[in-house]
Amino acid sequence: MTRDEARHRMKELAELIEKHNYNYYVLSRPVISDHEYDLLINELIELEKAYPEYADPNSPTQRVGGQVTKEFMTVTHKYPMLSLANTYSHDEVLDFDKRIRKVITSDIDYVCELKYDGVAIGLIYVNGILIRAVTRGDGIQGDDVTTNVKTIKSIPLKLKGNFPREFEIRGEIFLPHDDFQKINKKRIKNGELPFANPRNAASGSLKILDSAKVAKRPLDCTLYSLLGEDIPHRNHYDNLLEAKKWGFKISEYIQLCRNINEVFNYIKNWDTARKKLNYDVDGIVIKVNSYVQQHQLGSTAKSSRWAIAYKYKAEEASTKLLSISYQVGRTGTITPVANLEPVQLSGTKVKRASLHNADIMKKLDIRIGDYVLVEKGGEIIPKIIGVDESRRSRFAEPVRFISNCPECGSILIRKEGESNHYCPNELGCPPQIKGRMEHFISRRAMNIDSLGEGKIEILYDKGLIHDISDFYSLTFDQINGIEKVLPATEEKKERKVSFKEKTAQNILKGIEQSKDVPFERVLYALGIRHVGENVARKLATHFMTIDNLIKACFEELTNIEEIGEKIAVSVQQFFNDERNIIIIRKLRSAGLHMETEKKDKSKANILKGKSFIISGTFKNHTRDELKEIIINYGGRNVSSISSITDYVIAGDKTGPSKLEKAKKLGIPVISEEIFMEMTGKN
Ligand code: IVH
Repeated sequence: MTRDEARHRMKELAELIEKHNYNYYVLSRPVISDHEYDLLINELIELEKAYPEYADPNSPTQRVGGQVTKEFMTVTHKYPMLSLANTYSHDEVLDFDKRIRKVITSDIDYVCELKYDGVAIGLIYVNGILIRAVTRGDGIQGDDVTTNVKTIKSIPLKLKGNFPREFEIRGEIFLPHDDFQKINKKRIKNGELPFANPRNAASGSLKILDSAKVAKRPLDCTLYSLLGEDIPHRNHYDNLLEAKKWGFKISEYIQLCRNINEVFNYIKNWDTARKKLNYDVDGIVIKVNSYVQQHQLGSTAKSSRWAIAYKYKAEEASTKLLSISYQVGRTGTITPVANLEPVQLSGTKVKRASLHNADIMKKLDIRIGDYVLVEKGGEIIPKIIGVDESRRSRFAEPVRFISNCPECGSILIRKEGESNHYCPNELGCPPQIKGRMEHFISRRAMNIDSLGEGKIEILYDKGLIHDISDFYSLTFDQINGIEKVLPATEEKKERKVSFKEKTAQNILKGIEQSKDVPFERVLYALGIRHVGENVARKLATHFMTIDNLIKACFEELTNIEEIGEKIAVSVQQFFNDERNIIIIRKLRSAGLHMETEKKDKSKANILKGKSFIISGTFKNHTRDELKEIIINYGGRNVSSISSITDYVIAGDKTGPSKLEKAKKLGIPVISEEIFMEMTGKN
């Protein structure tokens, strides 16, 4: 490749990649697979290494970050970043409209927008290139966070179309809910304090000095205001539509309203609709559309008179911590739970909130009697996000995490490097026993749904079952007619449950049918720590019988692909416990499958003549396992799609180009579950 060719290709690649970024991050309509995208990026990275003199500072490779800032520079905003006056009621919005009509006598159009709850940002473009990104700061001066902002893929580094030579566009950077939850889960696991809400996570991310770390936070950005001397239109709405053409992500939900009643409708609709969005919206912004009118109205020192925010009810509340109780989970994990003075929070009364684990309690430095900040994010259980130390009583004592299991009294254990305490009494601690039973009967395990809905709790409390093997010795006379009064809970009143004749028959029928469940699921149902469905399947395939598995030494276990030391230790611990061996003996004599079934000959050709493409990743099988199943049942696994392909088995991350092609050729795209049904295996 000559130098000229390289320069050419680099330009071409940069444009191509940005086009795919736009398709994926702005339009949410990718046209190439992740793999194809990675190939393009890697090619560009290599060329930039070989020809650094041609590397563009706004190349899409900059989006992976790398530059480490020592300190963010303070820059002065060309146009002050004012804030919005807040309103909370219908009347206050009416007052706003009246105030405006005192100044403006002609017709007024309002633009309604969602109020994104993130971090405000000003982006400055010169000749179509992002040259600076500045946070709000105090409204007069903000921080230059350009390197970090360049990692946000929905923000164009270069513009397309007919844009003004120089302008600023403002918007909000935010973290979508699903990514926020993933990040927090990881933080909790690492013993770090989780972010209180997506807004804090977004602003924390923007302030990280190492931009490569910022690139790992999937931030997003929606823009809502255009500023400059030669911007195309004299009204807000048309300018936003224009900016969309240059490549910016503009909200799909902006609405031009001809009068205040249309504004009220918008407010009303979004109060419920916003809850379905994958990001936080804490209100609505109402703006006068015409720039001439905006100018006439002017602004105060703090905010513009031509716009207001209507804020929805707060989702945070402050209340008193009365006590802390500790819950024991199915696997013995101890979760501290705060008991609170009841407080109203986004429509429900909150009395309890999770405190996660000892590390987090310590970081919060929480004390009984403290006033705490409770937050309810979406559908998740409320959580404590902070303590108001200024309201702390002098006598408030620090909380000590319990040392014994509240259910069975065993001394709690905490493994090195883990933030959770747990109760080691797996076979004797009631919630763990009941938890194991619930797992045993669950759909993907023994699938005894006639025992669902709290029936296990009743049978256990009546002393009829002590471990999972007892299900198989239950008799009709034992369970027919048993009754129990269930105490009132927050959701339900006190109620009496009784097992009528029909219920008893159904329970026994379900138990009987479970005897047909294949060995791999029985193994999963046993509830061995770290043995999920996939591992159980691998063990069943490898060892064929439970006796072989019981006898297996450590090396034999770890030699199996994807079986690591943690799993091997857990499997051995399980079978070293004599009590488990007794349970297995009882299950075997009840008739449960303890061996892998020989392949059924009649099914061997069930997929004969059919060709399959496997694409993506799957919940229950690896691609190799699916391939093996196809072949075992007489089908063919092919690698490229054509008109003679019969089915595409699509999992997560299936390349969009494959799906497109299948659609074009009219080839059915089926899920892993449907495929398994075709084989007759469920
Ligand atoms: S316009 C004068 N539009 O709310 C108008 N702001 O409390 C200035 N915000 O700092 C802002 N969504 O961070 C505007 N659609 C939207 C918005 C929005 C969120 C934020 C912005 C601003 C804050 C004001």
